[in-house]
This record gives sequence, C-alpha cells and structure tokens, in this order.
Amino acid sequence: MITSANIADLRARVKAWRQRGETIAFVPTMGNLHQGHITLIKEAVKRADHVVASIFVNPLQFGQGEDLDAYPRTLEADQQALSEAGCELLFTPTPGIMYPKGLSEQTYVEVPGISDELCGQTRPGHFRGVATVVCKLFNLVQPDIALFGKKDFQQLLVIRTMVEDLSIPVEIVGVDTVRESTGLALSSRNGYLTADEKQLAPSLKHTLDKLAADIQAGSSVQTATEAALMQLERCGLQPDYIAVRSARTLAEPTDEDAQLVILAAAYLGKARLIDNLEFSR
Ligand code: PAF
Repeated sequence: MITSANIADLRARVKAWRQRGETIAFVPTMGNLHQGHITLIKEAVKRADHVVASIFVNPLQFGQGEDLDAYPRTLEADQQALSEAGCELLFTPTPGIMYPKGLSEQTYVEVPGISDELCGQTRPGHFRGVATVVCKLFNLVQPDIALFGKKDFQQLLVIRTMVEDLSIPVEIVGVDTVRESTGLALSSRNGYLTADEKQLAPSLKHTLDKLAADIQAGSSVQTATEAALMQLERCGLQPDYIAVRSARTLAEPTDEDAQLVILAAAYLGKARLIDNLEFSR
C-alpha cells in the first residue's frame, strides 16, 4: 500500500487508473481504525478495481471544547490494518494541505435542515464540516463508489443528500454497524471509556432494542421514547437525545412511514456515544 499526503501524487495515481477504465472505491476515515472500518475496506475491495482510503482528523467538524486534540492518532497500526484488508492507496493530508487558506477562509458545503437537528443540534457546524471535507475528498479521489458506516446514520444521510443535491457522480454505500458481542457499536471514541463504563455502554443498544420492540407492540412513539430516556438514565448514561424518525428522510414519522430508525446519543464519562436502529412497523 502506498501512503501519500500529497494532492498532486494522489491525482496522478487516480488519473492513471481512470485512463485504464478501472473503478475506484473510497473509504474516508479519521483513523484509529477498528473492525468497522476494516469491514468497509473489505466491502470496497469486492466492489471496485482499486480501494483508496483517507485518514484525516478534520478540524472543521469539531466544535469548541470537543476532542480534536485528544482524538487518537494511530497511523502505523492503521496502515498495517488497511494494507492487510486490501487498501491500495492511503491519503493522509494535513490541515494545511486540505485548508491552505485557513479554516475561516475556507469555502463550505452546507446541507440545510438535516444537518441542524439531532447530533447537529448538539454539535452546531459539525455536519457542515463533514460535508465540506467529504465533498473535497470526493473531488480529489473521484471515486465511483464511497462507503460509510451506518453507525453514523445521520452523517450517511447528510452525505447522500449532498451527493444528490450537487450531482456528484459517486454511489454512496451504507454498511451495517459492527458491534462487540455485548451489542456496543464499535467506535474510535470507545477508547475513552474506563473498564467500568465499558460494562454500562451496551445499555445504549439494549435501550434501542426495547424501544423498537415497544413501538412494534403498539406503544405510541412518545410514550415509548420517554420510557427509553428513563431507562438510559437508570443505566447510568446521560442521554443527549433519543428520537424515532423516518429511516429515509430523518423527518418526524407520519402514520404512513413504515421504515423507521431510532437515533440516540448519550454521554458516558468522557465519551459521547451514538447508535441507531432501523426497524419497520
Ligand atoms: O465518519 C468519519 O470518520 C468522518 O466524519 C469522515 C466521514 C471521515 C469525515 O471526516
């Protein structure tokens, strides 16, 4: 696997593949890779001639007081895992390469509406930072397909909306969340959990399971959601939000919406955990 931080080098390699009519799959990441990321790479290998990944801890998507500086950086281990999984080219730009004029002079991509609620309400500007960096990475890598984990369900929908609205010629593939045997969704931020917190963390997924089951059994969304918030608190987590939405649009569900998704975020020690569950009623 080749690792490069250089835009001209990345473009030259991509151009050579394109001129030969070969396809490219892309997996953007912020590094500190776990099995969830490796699953994306393995899926990418099946779907295209070449797999490109990026590792870039994107300052644009971190708010003030968030964990930009503390975000774990594990490049050597990541390179080995990517190479073993079949990634051919790893792009590792610095903030200076991605945003040479500085963050305040940068052109942004804004996906209105969907970016401003749920995680976007707690983390203002987060999805603008995600959309901007992903759009720029798409322009650099020019992939045929790009793969994203469904654990970041709202992010996936923001990116799908951006691609549709801006007619970016890339197919977006959502890949199922990879979980520990306890149910805890894999996340780079799980590393912030202490051993005791790690025991409590799976209750987030268990709460989503119970909430879906309650709605399927006929409870109203509001009553079941209120019970779920209380359950999370009893388990020692501090809920940020739990919401039941249309899985297609993330809008509040109407009686006609059969495909639903529960999205949740909760604080546990230094970690802010997110998870979601798609279900039908
Ligand atoms: O999901 C992530 O790791 C990031 O939000 C992404 C998509 C790589 C953009 O920085």
